[in-house]
Amino acid sequence: MKPWTFLCACDMQPGSPRSFRFRRQHRDNWETALRQLRNEDAELLLIGGDLTRDGSIHDFEFDEVRAELETLPYPCYAVPGNMDTGNKHSTIGHPRSHAEVTAEQLDRFARFFGEFPWSFTHRNVRFSGIYAALAGSGLPHEDRLWRFLEEELPAQSPADHHVMIMHYALFIDDVNEKTWDLTDPDHYHDWYFSIDREHRLRMFEAMKATGVKIVLSGHIHCRKLEQVIEGVRFLKCAGIAFPQWADRWPDGDTTLGYHRFEVSESGIAESFVPLEIESDSDEGYGPGGHPDPEERDYSLAWEEPPEEIVGMKSR
Ligand SMILES: [Fe+2]
Repeated sequence: MKPWTFLCACDMQPGSPRSFRFRRQHRDNWETALRQLRNEDAELLLIGGDLTRDGSIHDFEFDEVRAELETLPYPCYAVPGNMDTGNKHSTIGHPRSHAEVTAEQLDRFARFFGEFPWSFTHRNVRFSGIYAALAGSGLPHEDRLWRFLEEELPAQSPADHHVMIMHYALFIDDVNEKTWDLTDPDHYHDWYFSIDREHRLRMFEAMKATGVKIVLSGHIHCRKLEQVIEGVRFLKCAGIAFPQWADRWPDGDTTLGYHRFEVSESGIAESFVPLEIESDSDEGYGPGGHPDPEERDYSLAWEEPPEEIVGMKSR
């Protein structure tokens, strides 16, 4: 078999100067990644979510990134991230958990990037994509997720390899770790970046039952050395827009970039492709995090916001 290549990129979230907030750093880093990706001799690109900074409220951010991805010489397969839709739900309604994902946001993502979860084979590899943060949401999309994992995937024809991509990490340190406590300030981010234990273990069982051998995730923007658990390789991917969580793991590396996978007779070998230039520009405006609607001030925008936003604000 002639070796061939697929790629994985996560968390480009360039944002837009037509938005109520913008950071030049995010935009510059995505443009660097896009230039490098255009020169890759690959057969497909997996995208692990957070394609936009505020796609959850702006169609125009989805339009822009989709048009940019269409300039790549190979197809892209994306799963949503929380910036494209909304956050994981909490079980206790704590104020630290907000902007929780809604059915409407999930359906909007599907309008731009297609229905999910998805699964397909390319050559001798099955690729599957999920939005794991739906677990525990109680949304109809959650039922669809479990049906996909536990009924539809096992019915698919197997391939030599099965690669699954998701936005949230399945776990932080170990698949058996507890559900992190979002009320504990020292561990809020552990909770925010991972899937709760009950759902995590159920997903892991489904992964093993359907021959998943590689699990890729984004969201954290910090690459971690690959972990192999019960024969499944877990890879926490680098970010593109900006680095994050540099001090959580001794083997964490916040260098920005994307991942290249070479498929050959001997298996799937991963290598990291750093951005050729990392922007650390502090130019920009507007709030970080997940601001409430009343905190969105479009008069700050460097470029004219789209008509529908101006109309919405003046109503
Ligand atoms: Fe994220």
